[in-house]
Amino acid sequence: MRPAYAVGALVAALLPVPVTSTPVSYRDARVPVERRVQDLLGRMTLADKIGQMTQAERGAVAADPTLVTEWRLGSVLSGGGSVPTPNTPAAWVDTVNTLQRAALATPLKIPILYGVDAVHGHGNVYGATVFPHNIGLGASRDPRLVEQVYRATAEEMRATGIRWNFAPCVCVTRDDRWGRAYESFGEDPALVTRMLTAVDGLEKNGVLATVKHYAGDGDTTYGTGTGDYPIDQGVTITSRADFARIDLAPYVAAVTRHGVRSVMPSFSSVDWTDDGVGNPVNMHGHRELLTGTLKGKLGFDGFLISDWEGIHHLPGTLADQARAGVNAGIDMFMEPNTAPQFEAALTAEVQAGRVPMTRIDDAVSRILRVKFQLGLFENPYATAGEVGTAAHRALGREAVAASQVLLKNNARTLPLRPDARIYVAGRNADDIGNQAGGWTLDWQGRTGDSIPGTTILDGIRQVAPAASVTFSADASAPIARTDVGVVVVGETPYAEGFGDVGGPVCSWCPAPQQEPKSLTLQPADRAVVDKVCDAVTRCVVLIVSGRPQVITDQLGSIDALVASWLPGSEGGGVADVLFGRRPFTGRLPVSWPRSVDQVPINIGDRPYNPLFAYGYGLRT
Ligand code: GLC
Repeated sequence: MRPAYAVGALVAALLPVPVTSTPVSYRDARVPVERRVQDLLGRMTLADKIGQMTQAERGAVAADPTLVTEWRLGSVLSGGGSVPTPNTPAAWVDTVNTLQRAALATPLKIPILYGVDAVHGHGNVYGATVFPHNIGLGASRDPRLVEQVYRATAEEMRATGIRWNFAPCVCVTRDDRWGRAYESFGEDPALVTRMLTAVDGLEKNGVLATVKHYAGDGDTTYGTGTGDYPIDQGVTITSRADFARIDLAPYVAAVTRHGVRSVMPSFSSVDWTDDGVGNPVNMHGHRELLTGTLKGKLGFDGFLISDWEGIHHLPGTLADQARAGVNAGIDMFMEPNTAPQFEAALTAEVQAGRVPMTRIDDAVSRILRVKFQLGLFENPYATAGEVGTAAHRALGREAVAASQVLLKNNARTLPLRPDARIYVAGRNADDIGNQAGGWTLDWQGRTGDSIPGTTILDGIRQVAPAASVTFSADASAPIARTDVGVVVVGETPYAEGFGDVGGPVCSWCPAPQQEPKSLTLQPADRAVVDKVCDAVTRCVVLIVSGRPQVITDQLGSIDALVASWLPGSEGGGVADVLFGRRPFTGRLPVSWPRSVDQVPINIGDRPYNPLFAYGYGLRT
């Protein structure tokens, strides 16, 4: 037998499909993905293709799932707070499966991919484990822990039938006044890059990760924000070299080292000083960065998903915006409530020859590739599972403890004695909604007793049952000099531009959240710190917030200071380090300013004189 023939026979034997002339079917899981993609693409009409490029919001189709069939949608999302009633895993699975059945009623039976923002655990779902927001995970400096947290998040997502997470944000936060600073792992691109194990955690559990927001969302200049937002969705004014070093770096690693398969462009714009400032280009229309850099130089073969109506930030009509977004390189479009309008606009642009069919086929191929890789065609439906498991809550508690940063500890005030007389005060001591922060049940989060879990006060009582604990949120109860004061203050929940310092107030949020955001403690918080710390001999202050709070002028009366960030549902982890069950190991993921007029302040600045430097953290 001639060697070539022998090799041919060997190869034929190894091929997963018969090497006969029978037509390849995209429905045959034995066929290599690329051949399934090409076969399916060849069968699709323009309506099928543009449908695959369109994502609608749950609210637009829940009342009439046949719209998923009619619009041939490629995806549906739940925005923050867009939840089924009841908000249970079973109801989520029923929602997803109902919409999936509608998708499989299309001629080619292409399954939808359902997406959510599970940015600190599956925060939309009541009873889910709510992990620390990324800023706290960055303080842990523990990539393995971050992978476990996102792996657990993926498990709880799959328990609700959801396979796509618009996370992790790999934003590099460079200005604490940004309302999304807490979604970042920190100000150092190298730290953010180390935390890309979040992608691995999701992907290893069959959930598609999306790194966002590409790129420079955390590096915009204050005062350039969009609409009422002073800095969110603003303009990154920087050199190409600094943009690459700071803003792009995490994406290079995400694509080349973590194989991420989905990227979300930023609402923000970039204005490169090399070319002379004054020419900002919105990321949703930035062909050089979306296609030239990401898909070309980096070889990204997944798909780009626009942000929420992200192309509507581009100039012109919806047709102009659709054309610009597709031709720049976006593949799927988050059009929550304008899906049919978007589809009609893009169809007209293709038919007019202003969007080449090759670009459409490239976009659809990318989307189909991921769907085949996820096994969606073989397993389009889900069954309900459990969220908020004891194991996940224990992991959450471990992550909380690892995220705590000890900034001051005079005379070894910490750890506390388990039999101490403790006077607990402050509005964030017993408020699980505040300690969870934004993207929890609601887009903006929800102050108060919003989710099941353990507040910091609960944790203190659990960890130190022999302690004598008095709780008085406003410190109105009598205080004994010999008490140890534990004052838990900080921010109320917010998300996106509503968290910008100087940004708009969320008028529909619970009253406590309707406070102007600040880099200093709210007046009532300051008063409680002063009252308690003036009345006791040892005073511990915990700051529960999404970013540093300037506290320099009160530092002298504070014996121990802890940055607690946004711990989530497992407040017991804070008590674990307060009482020495676990050591303090956290380190600052961002510089802690000495004064508000230092901001923005980042490691590497010259001069650099923060109150506490990036990377600082005492150990016990
Ligand atoms: C939001 C956010 C983005 C999120 C998307 C869907 O506006 O910018 O991070 O993934 O919409 O909720």
